[in-house]
Amino acid sequence: MSSPATFTVKEFFDLLRDDLAAIEREFGRDTVSSVRAITDIGEHLRAGGGKRIRPALLLLCAKLFPHDERSAVRLGAMVEIIHTATLVHDDIIDEARTRRGRPAANTQWGNAKCVLAGDWLYMQAFKIAVQERNFRILDVLIELTQQMVEGELLQMEKLGKCITLEEHFDMIFRKTACLFSVSMRLGAILGKATAEQEEKLGDYGRNLGLAFQIVDDVLDLTASEEVLGKPLASDLREGKVTMAVIHALERCTPAERKLVESVLQERAFESVKHEQVLEMLHRYGSIQYAHKTAEQHAEIACRAICSFPDSEVKRALLFAPEFVVERNS
Ligand code: IPE
Ligand code: IPE
Ligand code: MG
Ligand code: MG
Repeated sequence: MSSPATFTVKEFFDLLRDDLAAIEREFGRDTVSSVRAITDIGEHLRAGGGKRIRPALLLLCAKLFPHDERSAVRLGAMVEIIHTATLVHDDIIDEARTRRGRPAANTQWGNAKCVLAGDWLYMQAFKIAVQERNFRILDVLIELTQQMVEGELLQMEKLGKCITLEEHFDMIFRKTACLFSVSMRLGAILGKATAEQEEKLGDYGRNLGLAFQIVDDVLDLTASEEVLGKPLASDLREGKVTMAVIHALERCTPAERKLVESVLQERAFESVKHEQVLEMLHRYGSIQYAHKTAEQHAEIACRAICSFPDSEVKRALLFAPEFVVERNS
């Protein structure tokens, strides 16, 4: 028996290759509309790539149980369509210029068309979900969509402000971890898991999602633009204070706080350089702190599923948190 540590990225994707390919085809079919702009925007996003981590989680979770494979493919495409809709809306809100190393849809089609395409994609996702004729699925999705919208709104209200760690956790749960958790729970629902099993799997997803967003935020501060596929330190320039910055702000001198506040006010690295902020974050061990916190949530995720019997699928699920915290893009 191979231990979780020996599972590789290749093995992970080999296990899901055929299903992910089927999800890709399903996504392509699902996002065709008689109105050209919608099909084009959907296709632009789909062809831009992406890690497909949410459908992968749904598939793995369903594979822990006997289940209808067609439903898993349909719902896998559905969670990726929800993710796509949130990205289309998010890039409008954040006035982002790039996504997945390509022009963000809003730069090509404008905000108005993208708002509507995002709405269409949301409704398409619900249309697919309704086909399952299962109210639990709809319940979970409605709750999710409201959490995500509330998360984006809360983030907007806090823009440019120094928030607490508690507020930050609440926001990253809503905007990211909730969809990770729901992807797992949908897999569990398809597998007719018990309530207790569904809760454990949802807990895994929540903690993996938190780790994922914390790492994403660290990478925004530390990775290179080529690797990220979007400009560096976008968060601070968008007025978003993330975990490492919160950690440093709780420890720094008033003069250092002023540095961060200047970037947040100017929405640019003008009077203060990116390197100055990064140097301060390193000095207070803030990058390390955020990374350590992500690792802790990755560990909690693994512990949440420890009672499931050993299998290749379980080993893949135990590998995912490791992959998420060690990723560099
Ligand atoms: C981007 O999610 C939005 C966040 C939650 C940070 P991903 O990093 O999963 O995006 P893609 O789908 O791989 O591009
Ligand atoms: C993630 O938010 C998008 C959603 C989960 C809706 P961010 O604004 O932090 O993510 P990126 O950096 O644009 O991918
Ligand atoms: Mg954004
Ligand atoms: Mg955003």
